[in-house]
Amino acid sequence: MQPAIELHNVEHRYEKSHRAMGISHWQVNSGERIFLHGPSGSGKTTLLNLLAGILEPNSGEIKLLGQAFSSLSSKKRDKFRARHIGVVFQQFNLVPHLSVEKNVSLAAYFAGKKTQINERLDHYLTQLQLPSDVAHQQAGHLSVGQQQRVAIARALINKPEILLVDEPTSALDNDARDAFMTMLISLCKEDNTTLLFVSHDQSLAQYLDSAVSLSSLGKYREVS
Ligand SMILES: Nc1ncnc2c1ncn2[C@@H]1O[C@H](COP(=O)(O)OP(=O)(O)OP(=O)(O)O)[C@@H](O)[C@H]1O
Ligand SMILES: [Mg+2]
Repeated sequence: MQPAIELHNVEHRYEKSHRAMGISHWQVNSGERIFLHGPSGSGKTTLLNLLAGILEPNSGEIKLLGQAFSSLSSKKRDKFRARHIGVVFQQFNLVPHLSVEKNVSLAAYFAGKKTQINERLDHYLTQLQLPSDVAHQQAGHLSVGQQQRVAIARALINKPEILLVDEPTSALDNDARDAFMTMLISLCKEDNTTLLFVSHDQSLAQYLDSAVSLSSLGKYREVS
């Protein structure tokens, strides 16, 4: 089976920055669930943004699902992301004045899928232990923990092959965090979703198949 994620000699440098991140080789198999950790500022969010196609590498190649993702035009990358990748950002980026249902159906709309959204949304809300009437509430009126779970439902609605999740449990207490992890992993198992899960909280590594330290893949280094 082809790997879900492959990186070869990927280098990224922010504009005007004197530091660059380099990853020589990394491969994640389809259906693998990985805990990705590293100190603050080590480049975890940068790596997820590269994999989501929000950032472009300066050099090297990123292949997703066997497709040369980093060589696609930005329009094609957006389309590929909408269809195949779910992203939960460190700030969840829900549209606060829209209802939960509208927030989720926007993701489906961008992927060109308009059917069966409500049924699946109900399923995810139940699995994520959110009351079904939450669907009609404004996203901005939910608690932070509830918004975090809605962001997961939105990321999963198109049944993405790859799910990228950045620090999703920071606002949850211990019990809510453990329940959240159990739900997330069970949803990923349902569809054999490849999961990259970024967190500072080492105790969450037990929920995933393996743990990878970003410093073992590559480092930010000074460049002139
Ligand atoms: N838009 C940007 N422009 C310039 N430098 C940036 C930008 N975003 C991040 N950086 C720098 O890139 C490095 C990696 O940042 P990144 O956000 O990927 O770290 P992180 O591992 O996700 O940290 P945290 O655990 O705090 O979320 C940091 O040194 C940061 O200052
Ligand atoms: Mg980050």
